[in-house]
Amino acid sequence: MMKPVTTVSLQKMKQAGQKISMVTAYDYTMARILDEAGVDMLLVGDSLAMVVQGNQTTIPATLDEMIYHGKCVARGASRAMVVVDLPFPHGQLGPMETLKVSARILKETGCAAIKLEGGAEQAETIRVLVAAGIPVIAHVGLRPQSVHAIGGYKVQRHLEQIHQDASAAQGAGAFCVLMECVAAELGAQITDSLDVPTIGIGAGPSCDGQVLVCTDLLGLTQGRVPRFVRKFGELGEGVRNAVTEYIEAVQDGTFPSESESFR
Ligand code: KIV
Repeated sequence: MMKPVTTVSLQKMKQAGQKISMVTAYDYTMARILDEAGVDMLLVGDSLAMVVQGNQTTIPATLDEMIYHGKCVARGASRAMVVVDLPFPHGQLGPMETLKVSARILKETGCAAIKLEGGAEQAETIRVLVAAGIPVIAHVGLRPQSVHAIGGYKVQRHLEQIHQDASAAQGAGAFCVLMECVAAELGAQITDSLDVPTIGIGAGPSCDGQVLVCTDLLGLTQGRVPRFVRKFGELGEGVRNAVTEYIEAVQDGTFPSESESFR
């Protein structure tokens, strides 16, 4: 069995200049495939509210849903580190409430870390979680749970604030900082200035690692995808073709064949 990815091995990857790959996952089957392919980190993102449930934002994801999907993903991962998102508003309820919820996520899912949105204003919460032994990733830059407050999904340009958020998160003990939708130059500066690894999504190539939503990466997402997405596959088309063939085979009676039937 491969050695599991840990906070320590991720830190070593940064030091060795080895890039970290993270992909979202929401179920056992996909988690197994991604894990076997060698992805370093699996994120059970609250993006499941959009990808799995068809909502317009991540806000509807509930704690019970995150735990349910976290369990499914953790069962499929043997090497990758599994990280579960704190859904809205559970990461924003102050240190003790956030600690209770994070502990529940860790105990019930078997994941190894949690991710919460925020930086400087979350420093005390991060400190309390880390003191309790819970590894934390801080999500800075575009915070999707604040989409209504910030007026849409767009590049975040308050450079000084994002820099402060990233360093406050590291100072409070976060083992990793995830940056979303910031200029590549800022992504590079923050990555250089931090000791802990950075993971980017729309944050340029200099981050220590990259994350994508699995359905975007695989070409399963229907409709528009953000500019920072690269499709590494066309699985949507693959599924459509396979199912069309299946329907035809059912309709013309060639499925099931003799070898697919019992005597
Ligand atoms: O919820 C999610 O999938 C995320 C990624 C987009 C980073 O937070």
